[in-house]
Amino acid sequence: MAEVLAFTPAVARETDALYERVKTVIPRFEWEMHAPYIAEINRLKREIGAVVLAHNYQTPEIFHCVADFSGDSLQLAREAAKTDAKIIVQAGVHFMAETSKILSPEKTVLIPDMEAGCSLASSITGADVRLLRERFPGVPIVTYVNTSADVKAESDICCTSSNAVDVVESLGVKRVFMIPDQYLAANVARQTDVEVLTWAGSCEVHERFTADDVKAFRKSHPGVIVLAHPECPPEVIAEADFAGSTSAMIGYVTDKRPKRVVMVTECSMSDNVAASLPDVEFVRPCNLCPHMKRITLPKILHSLQTMTHEVLVDEKVAARARQAVENMLKVGPPKPRVKAA
Ligand code: 13P
Ligand code: SF4
Repeated sequence: MAEVLAFTPAVARETDALYERVKTVIPRFEWEMHAPYIAEINRLKREIGAVVLAHNYQTPEIFHCVADFSGDSLQLAREAAKTDAKIIVQAGVHFMAETSKILSPEKTVLIPDMEAGCSLASSITGADVRLLRERFPGVPIVTYVNTSADVKAESDICCTSSNAVDVVESLGVKRVFMIPDQYLAANVARQTDVEVLTWAGSCEVHERFTADDVKAFRKSHPGVIVLAHPECPPEVIAEADFAGSTSAMIGYVTDKRPKRVVMVTECSMSDNVAASLPDVEFVRPCNLCPHMKRITLPKILHSLQTMTHEVLVDEKVAARARQAVENMLKVGPPKPRVKAA
């Protein structure tokens, strides 16, 4: 683990401008613990030519102060493929780091904590997908990016929460498997005429939200705009004003500037957006993703100092998984959609 670093006047000078970005969501005493790590991470990144790719669920000190690029799963995958940097530190969960490695086998991809998993990724294996193919020959398999490289390798095409409907419709077939998220699949099924078969996986963060939660937000905060992630159960999405990927939700709030908003998703999202949009009032339901929260500044620093933990994918598996991810990237940027009634 990285050593404990002190908050010195030099650190203060180097990081004061960054504190301006997060001062509404991080109290000063807490900042003094983060700032020495932020200064050292940013120095070391420059020295060794590394970039930090951070998912929207990372905490504000990571998202706003050390990330070179932040975004949803699709944006991070595109950025990993695009960056000239030779070293990528993935501030996110393991499947995201694997996706980066699949797209950029020549780059060194590091994850600060190997245990940063995902309940969706652990709900299905490559062997499960082979069995589905045997039982349902000819039905294309659309796989959510929240899966292991083994599962992607057995799939026809990947999707993310932002392009799932476009991907399903791009196949020009009557019936598809969308695995492993039963709720994303159900939410996609409401927006297309294609029959969508699925798997019994779910996100342990989003499955806990209920339609009653949304009704309670509306009652206690009249006029609140409700945004929800498509990993939520369909009855939650039905109660929401807008459903979209993490970045689509950020885009909605940034463009429309509602007076009051609730993001029915992981806690750090509201903190990250609130830090940039002080004029919007955020009602903050708090469901933490324990996997995303394994990533911390000391672990990112340790990762850069020791070049650990390197994420490797067997080249044969990676080649097949890459085909599925590239098939998705060819579908193009997500089309704007109105929420299904
Ligand atoms: P996004 O692709 O919308 O960022 O979602 C990833 C994720 O893990 C949500 O739980
Ligand atoms: Fe996986 Fe859910 Fe965490 Fe996203 S929020 S990484 S889907 S467990």
